[in-house]
Amino acid sequence: MADSFSGMLKPMHPNNTSHLNNLDSIQASMEKLRAELNEHNYRYHILAAPTIPDAEYDKLFQQLVTLEAQYPQFKKLDSPTQRVGAPPLKGFTELVHVVPMLSLENGFTNEDVQDFEKRIQDRLKPLIDFTYACEPKLDGVAVALIYENGIFSLGATRGDGVTGEQITENLRTIATIPLKLQLNGPTPKLLEVRGEVFMPKEGFRALNEKAIAQNEKVFVNPRNAAAGSLRQLDSKVTAIRPLSFYAYGLTRLEGLNLPVNTQHEQLAQLKKWGFPVCPENQVVQGISACLEYYQKLLAKRHDLPYEIDGIVYKIDDITLQDRLGFVSRAPRWAIAHKFPAEEALTELLAVEFQVGRTGALTPVARLKPILVGGATVSNATLHNMDEIERKDIRLCDTVIVRRAGDVIPEVVGVVLEQRPSQVQRILLPKHCPVCGSDVIREEGEAAARCMGGLGCSAQLKESILHFASRRAMNIDGLGEKLVNQLVDIHMIKTVADLYHLTTAELAALDRMGQKSAENLTESVEKSKKTTFPRFLYALGIREVGETTARILTAYFSDLSALMAADNEHLQKIPDVGPVVAQHIVTFFRQAHNLEVIKHLLAAGIHWPTVKGTHHASLPLAEKTFVLTGSLLSLTREEAKEKLIALGAKVSESVSKKTSFVIAGNDAGSKLAKAETLEVPVLDEQELLALFKKYRQ
Ligand code: IVH
Repeated sequence: MADSFSGMLKPMHPNNTSHLNNLDSIQASMEKLRAELNEHNYRYHILAAPTIPDAEYDKLFQQLVTLEAQYPQFKKLDSPTQRVGAPPLKGFTELVHVVPMLSLENGFTNEDVQDFEKRIQDRLKPLIDFTYACEPKLDGVAVALIYENGIFSLGATRGDGVTGEQITENLRTIATIPLKLQLNGPTPKLLEVRGEVFMPKEGFRALNEKAIAQNEKVFVNPRNAAAGSLRQLDSKVTAIRPLSFYAYGLTRLEGLNLPVNTQHEQLAQLKKWGFPVCPENQVVQGISACLEYYQKLLAKRHDLPYEIDGIVYKIDDITLQDRLGFVSRAPRWAIAHKFPAEEALTELLAVEFQVGRTGALTPVARLKPILVGGATVSNATLHNMDEIERKDIRLCDTVIVRRAGDVIPEVVGVVLEQRPSQVQRILLPKHCPVCGSDVIREEGEAAARCMGGLGCSAQLKESILHFASRRAMNIDGLGEKLVNQLVDIHMIKTVADLYHLTTAELAALDRMGQKSAENLTESVEKSKKTTFPRFLYALGIREVGETTARILTAYFSDLSALMAADNEHLQKIPDVGPVVAQHIVTFFRQAHNLEVIKHLLAAGIHWPTVKGTHHASLPLAEKTFVLTGSLLSLTREEAKEKLIALGAKVSESVSKKTSFVIAGNDAGSKLAKAETLEVPVLDEQELLALFKKYRQ
């Protein structure tokens, strides 16, 4: 639970129960304690606004556990103590759905969606402009939750739509599913709610990280992880899985008449009863507004804290829904407009090993080409040998390839059922495929490395590309093909040689014109005027990225001081741990590196001396920023760079530790989270004012 709170609910302490000789009052205090704990759960998990500290919650919880052990006759199903899991089951009991759990028609293109509207219009003449409830299609597991007299009593999976499996005990462990309805009015005799159980991305990442640390099998994606977690016979296992729930439908309501006539009113009513509902849901007018909503969410997809695989458009008016009815197994009044799939199955043809800048060998899968995430993929990373082992991937296997947004395509798993009888294991080569040097995998390291150093042309090429890259020395016109050529014909042996290339030499190369040669030498010349952090980053010291380079240069005003620093000294700098410190020391002890630095400086590389400021004295030291949405006058990258230069940390996700969120246009869930956590939010103008103040 969170460690801060905004105000106290009146706590109730049924201490000294021994003096209560009256069983009725014990029962009453247990009831009150349950109500209070359920309220705190709701405030914490659904409103994200706890009103008591964790320790206080734990104390109340413990009191209830003790009382329930002493007076088991007063134990109730809606008790928060039931969320920790019940004794294991032998198997799941079936449940026949009173209202079948249907599926949705899928649409993939705008035309599919327009056809959908046309079909509805044909049925519902005269024509009207429809109102649609647009909802993200959550990528999890559909469940039905039944509440009898306001208490959660039964929960089931969809199964084949007619018969599902009762997974009540498992569902009870999910903190965002209310065990008891929050009631201000009369209690419905019976309520059935439909919704999606899912695993938030962050929980999925942490779960897999733990599995990796314990050498266990990892889940392929959050949906599989959610499904696997719900299928546990032992609900204590489910209880420790990071699952969540969003309600998207009210299916049955008995013993209560409510003025609920639309999908969005249904969801509002569910919210009042304490159910979490997806905050992205929106009511729009007309199908073109649906398509706009689709584009908006498609752009936001990777920033959402949970996975979605499309948008569901539902006719909002329930009377119209009823008039439209169903075809076979799907309603006529809704359609799922799918996003391009981010995962696909294909065959693993071969594995090759690529050698990176630091010599690390990355296994790369050569795949039978496949369309995924909107592009044809024929290569994907397998990360490292441990991952191959853990996922048990062999040559000729059918594999699951994932391409999500800008992320490099990766092989996330294998379909064991489709494994051919003859498959070969993937072996780490003993020698570098590029230079033939030994390949060594050091104890405790995931990566195996080529020991050839800059004598290995692959490492040399990657080092040059890194040195010249935009955020390092920013040498324009030095692309991969040219670097390959220059290294292969031995025109460049170290990065320092770049500064001795002449226009005439370059112009004589294959596929190189006079103009390009001139541009390149000009760009090389221009790069001599740089900054200390850029130069340090360009050297390519292991684990010294841009941020570390900035921190180091804030401590050491000149290069010779940094080069002379020992391990102990370096570790005194915040964010420099023993590993980074060792890499820095090792780098500056190697004679060939010192030689290259000498040549670079002799060639005229220079930077303005900034008086050594200790990082802690920079104006935004100790402050953490999160950038979200798009900025008008600069890119997010530029804003990030400026913030880092002022000593700030820039993080990807909002937490209580975030000092400020910078919200640009179309800021999404991060802004919402900042608001719930009461993190101060600055707009672009305020950010610019901050830069101006500190002359950035
Ligand atoms: S409504 C009769 N709304 O999509 C309509 N379904 O093929 C029933 N899903 O497995 C579904 N997000 O679990 C609806 N906002 C949403 C949804 C949603 C995800 C899933 C659902 C089912 C599948 C339908």
